[in-house]
Amino acid sequence: APAVVATVADLRARVALWRAAGERVALVPTMGALHPGHLSLVEQAGRAADRVVVSIFVNPTQFAPTEDLATYPRDLDGDLAKLATVATDLVFAPTPQEMYPAGASTVVTVGGPSAGLESDARPHFFAGVATVVSKLLIQAAPDVAVFGEKDFQQLAVIRRLVADLHLPVEILSGATLREADGLAMSSRNVYLTAANRERAPALHRAIQRAAARIGNGEDAKAALRDARDAIAAAGFAIDYVEHRDAATLGAPEDNRPGRILAAARISGVRLIDNVPAPPK
Ligand code: PAJ
Repeated sequence: APAVVATVADLRARVALWRAAGERVALVPTMGALHPGHLSLVEQAGRAADRVVVSIFVNPTQFAPTEDLATYPRDLDGDLAKLATVATDLVFAPTPQEMYPAGASTVVTVGGPSAGLESDARPHFFAGVATVVSKLLIQAAPDVAVFGEKDFQQLAVIRRLVADLHLPVEILSGATLREADGLAMSSRNVYLTAANRERAPALHRAIQRAAARIGNGEDAKAALRDARDAIAAAGFAIDYVEHRDAATLGAPEDNRPGRILAAARISGVRLIDNVPAPPK
């Protein structure tokens, strides 16, 4: 299993040795409960750098009091066993006290791509993500960091954050890994009952069909309306199903790549997904 450190000082000492040897370092931030989607990001990091650090930290500041912080799946031993199957040089698994010592009062808020979509349902979320990712990037000081397209708005927010704070790191993105029926892999899929697990792929199927119709030149509004109907018919309560510009997440623009992003709840389990939408 990979070596594990729990303090920022130990993380920095390990990374400093690699740097002194001229090695390139990659960071893959996670909240653990690792699945093949996470591991694919670790493999991508291994192709982009000499050394790979994986952080495992269930970040309290991105959960609202009503959300699943206490019950979020945690399995450090299982995660370490999975990471032993891909090239991981170091795991950084800090405690909440290490990351947020008593008196911690600094919050990083990102405008631009944070607005709307996830923020409508989870207004606290991106400040928590931006704060912890800023800290991780400063702590590990990697050359590259890898994030998944699964959380497409998060990826856009992190790109914005890194540009705005002039953080000297290259951000790479990894494609969404899916189950055989199309459901995007997620640590939260374990919450789905067997019946809802069977309905869940309807979310991906519907946005995929809408993207194909937009690609065929059909009216985007009608394609999105039908997607919403199909998602609701499968038993979901919809948070949003939107067609946006892939780079800014603003309104879709002619001749620029688009993205269809969706979030919906089925018996209290909130699923998100997104797919590319071809330019108009
Ligand atoms: P977490 O949900 O654990 O996800 C860690 C990384 O794995 C994110 O970059 C996410 O986009 C990516 N990922 C999740 N599911 C994936 C899939 N099916 N295929 C490919 N990549 C996938 O996202 C977070 O943690 C946190 O917000 C974090 C960035 C670590 C900050 O706390």
